[in-house]
Amino acid sequence: MAKKKQKKGKAAAKKSARKVVKLASKKAHAAKRVNGNGQRPRPSSKPWGHAGKALEGVRILDFTHVQSGPTCTQLLAWFGADVIKVERPGIGDITRGQLVDVKGADSLYFTMLNHNKRSITIDSKHPQGKRVLDELVKSCDVLVENFAPGALDRMGLTWEHIHKLNPRMVVASVKGFGPGPYEDCKVYENVAQCAGGSASTTGFREGPPLVTGAQIGDSGTGLHLALGIVCALFQRNRTGRGQKVLAAMQDGVLNLCRVKLRDQQRLKAGPLTEYSQYGEGIPFGDSTPRAGNDSGGGQPGWFLKCKGWENDPDAYIYFITQAPVWGEICDVIGEPTWKTDPEYASPRARLPKLKKIFERIEQWTMTKTKFEVMEICNNVDIPVGPILSMKEIAEEPSLRKTGTVVEVDHPTRGKYLTVGNPIKMSDSISEVKRSPLLGEHTDEILKDVLKLSAKEIAEVKNSGALSAPKKEEKAA
Ligand code: COA
Repeated sequence: MAKKKQKKGKAAAKKSARKVVKLASKKAHAAKRVNGNGQRPRPSSKPWGHAGKALEGVRILDFTHVQSGPTCTQLLAWFGADVIKVERPGIGDITRGQLVDVKGADSLYFTMLNHNKRSITIDSKHPQGKRVLDELVKSCDVLVENFAPGALDRMGLTWEHIHKLNPRMVVASVKGFGPGPYEDCKVYENVAQCAGGSASTTGFREGPPLVTGAQIGDSGTGLHLALGIVCALFQRNRTGRGQKVLAAMQDGVLNLCRVKLRDQQRLKAGPLTEYSQYGEGIPFGDSTPRAGNDSGGGQPGWFLKCKGWENDPDAYIYFITQAPVWGEICDVIGEPTWKTDPEYASPRARLPKLKKIFERIEQWTMTKTKFEVMEICNNVDIPVGPILSMKEIAEEPSLRKTGTVVEVDHPTRGKYLTVGNPIKMSDSISEVKRSPLLGEHTDEILKDVLKLSAKEIAEVKNSGALSAPKKEEKAA
C-alpha cells in the first residue's frame, strides 16, 4: 500500500516537473519571439532592404591602409557602420597614389576599397593629434588597424591605454603572422599565400608554386576580421566589455586551404586517387602536391578548350565528370556505349583514363562556344564553369542588377566600376557611396563627433596636427 502511494507520488511529481519545464520553455520561446519593445517582430513594411542598416549606430575608428584592413572596414561601412578613416596628413593611405590611371585622382586601388567611409587627417605622432585620437577612441566602438607589428603601440595607442579610455572598445588587427617566430614580420598578399599553404598547393606538379589572382591573403583576412569584429560586438552586448580581435594573414589563408591540410593527412592512407597524377601512375611524396586544375572535391574536373580558343585566352570551360551524371555526359559527347562499357562505367574504372576521357570531351567542347556548352550541359544537370573574363563580368547585366557590380561617380576621376557588397540582406540593403577625398570630413568629424567648437577646431588646426608639414619645415 505504502509502495503504491510512493509510486503515485513520484508520478505526480514527474508530471508537475514536466509541466514546469513546458511552461519555462514556452516562456523562453515567447521571449525569443519579441523584440526590444516587447512586441512580436513583423516583416518590414518598407520596400525590400529599406528597414535601416544592420550596423547602424556602430562607429569605427578606421586606422587601416592598403588592402586587408580597408576590405574589412568597407564591409562594415556597407552594413551601416559610421567608418572614420584616419589618414596621415598630406599623404593618406599609400594606395591613393598607387597604380594611378587618372592623373591627379585617387587610384582605383584606393577608391574600390574605401567606399562609404569618411576621411579625417591626423598626425598620430603630434601631441595635439594624439589628443584628438584619444577623443575619437572615447567616441567609437571599434578601432581597426593593420599597421606593421608594434606601430600602434609606438603611436601610444596600446591596448592598456585604449581600454582605460574606453573599456567597451573592440580593438581589431590584421597582422601577417600570429604569435610565434614570425610575428614581427611585415607581410603582403603573396607572402601570406606562401605562408598559408596556398602557393605550395597551387600550380602544376612539374612547375613552380603559383599565387592565385584572388586576394585571399588581404581581402580574405579582411573578411575574417570583419566577422571577428561583429562577434566581439555581439559578445559586448552581454559583457559590456571590448576585446582584442586578431586575424593573422597566414591563418586566414590556411583556413581557406583547409582541404589541402585534409589531403596532407589522407596521404598516410595511400595515394590521393582523385588527383590526376594517380591516374598517370606518378607516385606521391610526403606532402600535398600541386593539383593543377584537378577538382578538389573528389569529382574529377579539368579545363577544356571551346570554340574560338585559338584567339580568345578565355574560351575555356571547366568540366566536371560528376559520377551521377556520367550517363548524360556520355550521351552529350556522343559516346553512349561508355555508359555500360566496364572500362568506363564506374568511377574507379575511369580513374586511370581521365586524361583520355577529358581529351574526348574536349573534342566535343571545341565544337561549341563556352556558353553553348553551359546551356547544353546545364539542361541535363552536368556541372560546368565557363571561364568568364573580367571584361565579360564587367558587362554582365545580371551582376549590375543585383548590385554586385556597381558604377560609381567620383568628383575627380569620374565614373568607374566597383564590386558592391557580395552579402545581400533583406533588411539591410547596401548602397555604394564613393570613397572620400583625403581629409574631406575632417571638420565635420571634429564638429559632429567630437563636438568641438569653431574656436577649438581652429586651435587644433593651427597646431599643425591635422596638416602635412610645410615644404620649408620638411627641408629644415
Ligand atoms: N600619422 C603619423 N604616422 C602615421 C600615421 C599617421 N596618421 N599613419 C601611419 N603612420 C606611421 C606609422 O606609425 C608607422 O610609423 P613607425 O614605423 O615609426 O611606427 C609608419 O607610418 C608606417 O606604418 P607601417 O604599417 O609600418 O607601413 P609600411 O608601409 O612600412 O608597411 C605593411 C606596410 C602592409 C607591410 C605593414 O603595415 C604590415 O605588415 N601590416 C600588417 C599586415 C597587413 O595588413 N598586410 C597587408 C597589407 S594589404
